[in-house]
Formats: sequence, structure tokens, C-alpha cells
Amino acid sequence: DWSAASFIETTVAELKEQLGDDKVVLGLSGGVDSSVAAVLLNRAIGKNLTCIFVDHGMLRKNEFKNVLHDYECLGLNVIGVDASAKFFAELAGVTEPEEKRKIIGKGFIEVFDEEAHKIKDVKWLAQGTIYPDCIESLSITGTVIKSHHNVGGLPEKMHLKLCEPLRLLFKDEVRRVGRGLGMPEHLITRHPFPGPGLAVRILGDITPEKVAILQNADDIFIQGLRDWKVKDADGSETSLYHQVWQAGVILLSVQSVGVMGDERTYERAIALRAVTSTDAMTADWAHLPYEFLGKVSNDIINKVKGVNRVTYDISSKPPATIEWE
Ligand code: XMP
Repeated sequence: DWSAASFIETTVAELKEQLGDDKVVLGLSGGVDSSVAAVLLNRAIGKNLTCIFVDHGMLRKNEFKNVLHDYECLGLNVIGVDASAKFFAELAGVTEPEEKRKIIGKGFIEVFDEEAHKIKDVKWLAQGTIYPDCIESLSITGTVIKSHHNVGGLPEKMHLKLCEPLRLLFKDEVRRVGRGLGMPEHLITRHPFPGPGLAVRILGDITPEKVAILQNADDIFIQGLRDWKVKDADGSETSLYHQVWQAGVILLSVQSVGVMGDERTYERAIALRAVTSTDAMTADWAHLPYEFLGKVSNDIINKVKGVNRVTYDISSKPPATIEWE
């Protein structure tokens, strides 16, 4: 049966054999998959791996800075590129979800391509694609439900050979490999986050102001999940964060009436989303404690200017999806 230690040993040997002295470039997203792929490749080929981490402006609050620091601590050869202005300009006025994905996917390739061309003689593009990415993108019925931009597109454009060391793994296996590689627990247990980031959590058009509202609300929700300690099934202490598969906040495109002191307000509504799952193919809404939901709602309404109503999404996948767009 499958073990992380033997996967690491075999894969590092195969990568050495396959890549030799070739130079490899890899796009880091901050997520578990690309980070584990990078550390695995770093172990196999060291400085011949260059990682590129693009900030498209749709990341979580302080994410770019924090994650870049984590990568540097892991000894990765990483270039951080702040391209947020480009993405804000290109996304202005765009409301259709797949259109947003296309713009971000294309913009990402442009920024990545430009950086990759600065490295001499790159032969390979490495990606942290995992098994469910492959099947959801090439669904059996042929219907593309959502286009996931971390699959396909890049290698043809760049005339590079593709290296995907995690393509046969499920998420829990990727996490076990990360632990086997000695990566810090907070990187390994991070929730999945979509490639287009907060762009698909803002319904309708995107502005820097909306992104800032969403980042602040999201930060309160996620920090709240981390801080709320609970007992796991085996009696050990854990947090709500670790009990859910993925969580985030959706900025809705409606405003609603509220009251603050003696004043009538007319501000934004948000939805909290938290799900349990094992592979993101199906998911159940997380049954978070009412006390917790009440506290987060109060904190968000009190601290995030522009939000006066908080709702909780209680839909499962299918028929809903995890993201709203
Ligand atoms: P859905 O919303 O389809 O999401 O139930 C399933 C998982 O995929 C993530 N997701 C994306 N990941 N690019 C990505 O890299 C995307 O465009 C994208 N859309 C959704 C989502 O966060 C969840 O983990």
C-alpha cells in the first residue's frame, strides 16, 4: 500500500533521471500542491529549479508577503512578482465568471512567461497538478463546469516540456508527502484556494475597494476558525479551521438596509462559506457552531466598513459548487 516515504524516494530518483541538468520553472500559488511539488523538485534538482510566485491582487490579506517568506525559509529559489495593477486594469468592468477566469489565466501566463524568459535555457515547466484537477477539467461528460487555470495552456505557449510529479495523488496524499518532506504544518494544512482567488468570490465586477472589503471580512472569518478550539473525534485538541476542508467569504452584489445607532444604512451583504470534503468533488456545508457564527458576524459587521449583513451558505455540492462563481 501507498506510503509517503517511498513515494518521495522513488519520485526524487525519477525526477533526477528525467531532468538531469535541465533547468525547470514552476509557478507557486501559495497552495499545498504547488508548494509540495516545489520542495520535491528542490530536493531532486536544487538550484536548477526556479519558482515564480505571481501576485494577481486577488490573494488573501497579507498572503503574498507571508507566503513568500515561507518559501524563502524552505530554501526555494523563488521570484515574487507583484502584478496586481495589471490584473485590476484588465478585470475592470468584467462580470461574467468564466470571462474573469480567462483574463486571470491569460494574464498569469503573460507574467509567468515574461519572468521565465529571463532564466537562461529553461527546458521544463513543473506544475503541482493533482489527480482531481485532471478529472474535473476533463470531465467524462465533456462538459466543462469551471475551467481550472492550473491545468493546460502554459506548456504549449512556452514550448516547454511538462513535469507533474503529483498528478496521480489525492489531496490527503499530497499532504502526507509534504510532511514527509519536513514542510511546516501551517503550509501543509492550508485550505485549498482557487487559482483566480477572490475574483471568483466577488459576484459581479471587481474593484480594488471590493477586494479590500472581502480581504478584511475573510481575514476575520479565517482567523476566527483558527482561534476557535474544539475537540476532535479522538479527543485531541484542534480548531474549526482544521475541521473544515475549505472556507472563505463571498462578497454579494446586493445591498441591504440596516441600522447603526440612529442612522439607516444601505450597505453590502456577504456570505460565509465553509465546507467539509475529502476531494472537492462533493462537499457538505460545515455545521459550524451557532456561537461561532454569531461572533464572526458581529466582528465583521463592527470592523469591516461597508458590510451590514452576514449570511451563511448551507448548500452542498452537488447541486451547488464550493465557490459561487
Ligand atoms: P467548485 O467551486 O467547482 O470548486 O466546487 C472545487 C474546488 O476547486 C477550486 N476552484 C478552482 N481552482 N481554479 C483553481 O485553481 C479555478 O478556477 C477554480 N474554481 C474553483 C475551489 O476553490 C474548490 O477547492
